[in-house]
Amino acid sequence: TVETDADGIALITWDMPGRSMNVFTEEAMDELDRVIDQVAGDAGIKGAVFTSGKNTFSGGADISMLHKIMTRFHEEKARDREKAVRQLFEEAGRMSWLWRKLETSGKPWVSAINGTCMGGALELSLACHGRVVADEEAVRLALPEVKIGIFPGAGGTQRVPRLTGAEEALRMMTSGQNLSPQKAKAVGLVHEVVPRRRLIEAARKMILDGLRSVQPWDEKDFKVPGGPVYSAAGANLWPAAIAILRRETYGNYPGAAAILKCVYEGLLVPFETGLRIEQRYFAQILQTREAEAMSRSMFISLQELNKGARRPKDVPARKLKKVGVLGAGFMGAGITYVTAKAGIPVVLIDRDQETADRGKAHSARLMDDLIKKGRATEAEKEKLLSLITATPDYAALEGADLVIEAVFEDSDVKKEVIQKAEAFLKSSSIFASNTSTIPIKGLAKNSKRPGNFIGIHFFSPVERMMLVEIIQGRKTGEKALAVAMDYARAIRKTPIVVNDTRGFYVNRCVLRYMQEAYSMLAEGVPAPMIENAARMAGMPVGPLALTDETAIDLAQKIMRQTVRDLGEKAVDPRHMELIDTMADKHGRLGRKNGKGFYEYPPKPAKKYLWPGLKELYPQQAPEKIDVEELKARFLYVIALEAARVMEEGIVTDPREADVGSILAFGFAPYTGGVLSFIDGVGTGEFVRRAQDLQKKYGKQFKPPKLLLQMAENGESFYERFRPETGQLVKAA
Ligand code: NAI
Repeated sequence: TVETDADGIALITWDMPGRSMNVFTEEAMDELDRVIDQVAGDAGIKGAVFTSGKNTFSGGADISMLHKIMTRFHEEKARDREKAVRQLFEEAGRMSWLWRKLETSGKPWVSAINGTCMGGALELSLACHGRVVADEEAVRLALPEVKIGIFPGAGGTQRVPRLTGAEEALRMMTSGQNLSPQKAKAVGLVHEVVPRRRLIEAARKMILDGLRSVQPWDEKDFKVPGGPVYSAAGANLWPAAIAILRRETYGNYPGAAAILKCVYEGLLVPFETGLRIEQRYFAQILQTREAEAMSRSMFISLQELNKGARRPKDVPARKLKKVGVLGAGFMGAGITYVTAKAGIPVVLIDRDQETADRGKAHSARLMDDLIKKGRATEAEKEKLLSLITATPDYAALEGADLVIEAVFEDSDVKKEVIQKAEAFLKSSSIFASNTSTIPIKGLAKNSKRPGNFIGIHFFSPVERMMLVEIIQGRKTGEKALAVAMDYARAIRKTPIVVNDTRGFYVNRCVLRYMQEAYSMLAEGVPAPMIENAARMAGMPVGPLALTDETAIDLAQKIMRQTVRDLGEKAVDPRHMELIDTMADKHGRLGRKNGKGFYEYPPKPAKKYLWPGLKELYPQQAPEKIDVEELKARFLYVIALEAARVMEEGIVTDPREADVGSILAFGFAPYTGGVLSFIDGVGTGEFVRRAQDLQKKYGKQFKPPKLLLQMAENGESFYERFRPETGQLVKAA
């Protein structure tokens, strides 16, 4: 809506009907275009204040629109490449030139940022001549585009460095990190930070005080703060910027690399030429596989799953009024915290009062950390703690809608607590287990109502890991599934639905990753090369460091259990020997005893690889090792396991496989996740390469039948298991 007041100031309030957040769709841009003309053409209007009618200011460009542009390009380039490129170039610049039109329309515009302001919306605000922000804890400003494989392509790479200097601009855009209103003001991104109730008044005042309608960079003698080449400290910033980018991305993220090019080239030329340079790079980035795969998995699929794409539709949503947690140990304490954080009352049970209290104290500690960082108040801590009842008394579970057990990983202990709890539960309550290895169908046998029995598998640390696996046992009913999904949503985690199987989905893939590293060690590949190759492939944590985190004796326990259940052949004897040597002979159990594949000296010294590793196997000469092949082995061995999981129908939706792989173990995010990785390589090529690796390194690289079939048909995962239509094609 546009309202003009007595002073001749137009107040433009953006409030998209039927959406919880404003985003720039084609129509929204068309409308803004008309409004810009209206303001410019009306002699009675002095200037404009632009704000949002929602709680947040705006999320920026509509990512589904961007993603459609990308997929259309890939379809059309097959027919007429030149035309497709031309069209993409136009579309890539649409926003940027509209923002430029506003900036040069001759009237002063002020953006009144009343809430969180992201991406294209922040870029629009930067094109406004004035910017005021509401002074509130929840308000964040960011250009997060790199996180979905692209970069700020609507003037961001040109305006930010001209406001803040190149160094700060690079930091902000290559990390995609949030800025608080105060920080945004300190770096020169906004003019004023004022209490929310004074926001519009302050914006109007800027115009009435004679705000110019010409941006600094359009003035004749404009200079980039600090100049285009030097940092605040006076050193040439580019060699360092390039080195940091390489260290952080290993060249895997074209979007991040393009930011450096845009800023470097753009600051050497006049502003509008800079915009053209940015447009050219933006169009190039939209053509990349990484941009398409990342925006799909990290934005579109993620949102769909969060909104309950896989939730049974017929079960009405139910607000959870009370949740029980059994076991106040490492996991139970974390589950209690995230549940109370969501405002749900929790009963936390352990064997005695003291242990239960210790579990509750974990929540107090986490809140204290937040208070120290200024992200929570004492009152919020007290309120959260008041929601948690710690007790050894099962009767307190009465009335709980959902109970989650996280007691010892032991079938007998679990059986006991299931029966004890059920004695106090109403017939509609759902019972969930957080077991990591015991099949849900076995545990459900201890329940009087297996239809209400389900697995909710968390990852540690619970408060930080964004994924939960919802495990369906053979008898788990739709209602249990719906309640588990509603719970995941309430605690703001992303659920993926997984059918009951050994290791479920995530741990099966993670084990493959770690075991491939054990094979490499046994082959005599130096440990630093193994860890580096994994990082270079895009994994956030090397496989040996990851083994240390989860504990070497746990790896040993899992292998021994696997041998007992599936026989000697199920475990590679070289892996068993390595782990036994580490744990039994050298007493190296991982991070927890300060001795694993790494040494953990007291802080602030950094961990380093245990030198004794070199003595375990005759070492290959590093120059003879093909690092590219090491990288490929990690990605392929995980992706192949995921393909098997799809073949077995353990996971049925490629969105869940992809999003799960990134959230749970950080599978090379630039690929868009495990299955997008295979699709990106192409199933035919992927199978050929896997068979090649199989010949050299063993059966872990054997492609499953499903993949062979898909390769023969030239099919991709997203074609075969069409998630968009909601009609999943059954696995082979
Ligand atoms: P933990 O040993 O830290 O905690 C277990 C707690 O259960 C202890 O506080 C213990 O006193 C309590 N407990 C034992 N018997 C009980 C009984 N009869 N009644 C009430 N409380 C009882 O173990 P952790 O690591 O928290 O694991 C718990 C469960 O979560 C296990 O099933 C494990 O497999 C699973 N899990 C663990 C993950 C991890 O990273 N540690 C990740 C995902 C699942």
